[in-house]
Amino acid sequence: MGQERSQWGSKLGFILAASGSAIGLGNIVFFPANAYKYGAGAFYLPYFIALFVVGMPVMTLELGMGRFTGRAFPATLRQIAGKKGEVAGWFGVLNASMITMYYLTILGWVVGMLRGSLGGLWSPGAVEAFGLPSGALSSAMSYFFNMISRYDTVVFVAVVWLLNMLIVFWGTKSIEAAVKVFVPLMWIFMLVLIVRGLSLDNGGQGVYLLFTPDFSVMKDVEVWRGAFSQIFFTLSLGFGIMTTYSSYLPPESDDISNAGTISFMNSSFEFIAGLAIFSLLFTFAITPKASTLSMMFFVVPEGIAKFPFAVALFGVLFFTLLLFAGLTSSVSLVEAVVSSLLDKFPGASRGRVTLVVTLIGFCGSALFALPTVIDKGLDSNGTLGLSLLDLYDHWVFGYGLMLCGLLECVLTGWFFDLDKLLEHINRTGSLKLGGGFKALIKFVIPAIILIILGSNAVKEITGGLYGHDMSLGGLDFLSPFALVSWLGLTIIGALVLSGRRAADEEAGR
Ligand code: TRP
Repeated sequence: MGQERSQWGSKLGFILAASGSAIGLGNIVFFPANAYKYGAGAFYLPYFIALFVVGMPVMTLELGMGRFTGRAFPATLRQIAGKKGEVAGWFGVLNASMITMYYLTILGWVVGMLRGSLGGLWSPGAVEAFGLPSGALSSAMSYFFNMISRYDTVVFVAVVWLLNMLIVFWGTKSIEAAVKVFVPLMWIFMLVLIVRGLSLDNGGQGVYLLFTPDFSVMKDVEVWRGAFSQIFFTLSLGFGIMTTYSSYLPPESDDISNAGTISFMNSSFEFIAGLAIFSLLFTFAITPKASTLSMMFFVVPEGIAKFPFAVALFGVLFFTLLLFAGLTSSVSLVEAVVSSLLDKFPGASRGRVTLVVTLIGFCGSALFALPTVIDKGLDSNGTLGLSLLDLYDHWVFGYGLMLCGLLECVLTGWFFDLDKLLEHINRTGSLKLGGGFKALIKFVIPAIILIILGSNAVKEITGGLYGHDMSLGGLDFLSPFALVSWLGLTIIGALVLSGRRAADEEAGR
């Protein structure tokens, strides 16, 4: 068999790594943007319901599974539900690799903006490539558009992939070393930003808005869909990330308390990020856009540009925060892919597998960063011209994530003796899980996910091919391609990967 599976050096290391995975761009920009879009204060109710009904149970399940089998996602699901389990596992891993690709492209842009915030970002300029005059856009916006219209952005993407590679290269050891530095720093930076935000003249008003509920939106399915997707994404669920991380835990670990700690840290971070960003924006009467990318690349920088002093310093702080938060999340995605491949090919060396994943991933990320795929209509349709990225995000995030969540619940709930897994979780768990938990995994969560997926699909069809606010400028024709390549690639990939060496494995058992 393959190498000994490594283990986290300490429980703290695991908690930092798993909460570092959960706390990412989703917390700093998605949450405030969603909260604003879905009725500010009123968003908390669906959010907490989603957290308790779906988020924490699925996280407990993922952690329990990983500790039960000591393997990454596909091998874990194989052990639990046989061949079809493994196909589902690879489906998750391949979706994870797609998210990784554009997540890292975005991080590449963060590096670019970080460099910009040392100087150029704060002075207004024209957007040469697209013929937009200076003054038409905020300085951060023009800096961003100029940046993405150049090929050298690919270098930033390479830098980010290199960092990910280095962090994943030595497995738990290097991941643990990285998160011990990055995770505490990102908390500190966030706290600095919140103090700055709240001490601005009208900082408190933004907070007030965040806590003023608008219950009229609660009837809207969209709000609920937003809350459930937010929970899935922010807790890094669905792709077996938590399964992979918990497979490196010692046998006596407590999944329930771990799920609680990780969720608590994640939601707290989300909460203070909401406070910081709302206070900052409302002081300067900037309307937060419900688009993640505009939020991080122009809306917040626009606020920072209006600070009375130390603009560049806070700019650097903000983008470094995004980079650290993003890195600790992206390494969990890369690690899930590497670890799944290592389970499958036990003879391969971790270093070599990491290198291959990095090279392929970098090519994918570079594709999203090429100026040629940027729609020249730019901001016109809310996609910032990043239509290709938006398309993949639409399919992978809108469907892939939930589909994987559905599959893992159905497989463990219906095709496996769930009692066996529960007994394993309960043996070391601080609470005893019983019928309620089983009902959630078998009926409630699948039903919720089916309703959400169904309503997504209905909206997709009735609202045109791409659904609600996704008009794609000149690149509309790409959407069917994105759908076909996403589905095709992942399904073929899943089948190939689970088929290969299956015979050897069977023989080895
Ligand atoms: N949770 C991270 C965030 O909030 C993103 C992330 C990391 C993720 N790993 C994931 C999302 C796995 C979905 C699945 O930004």
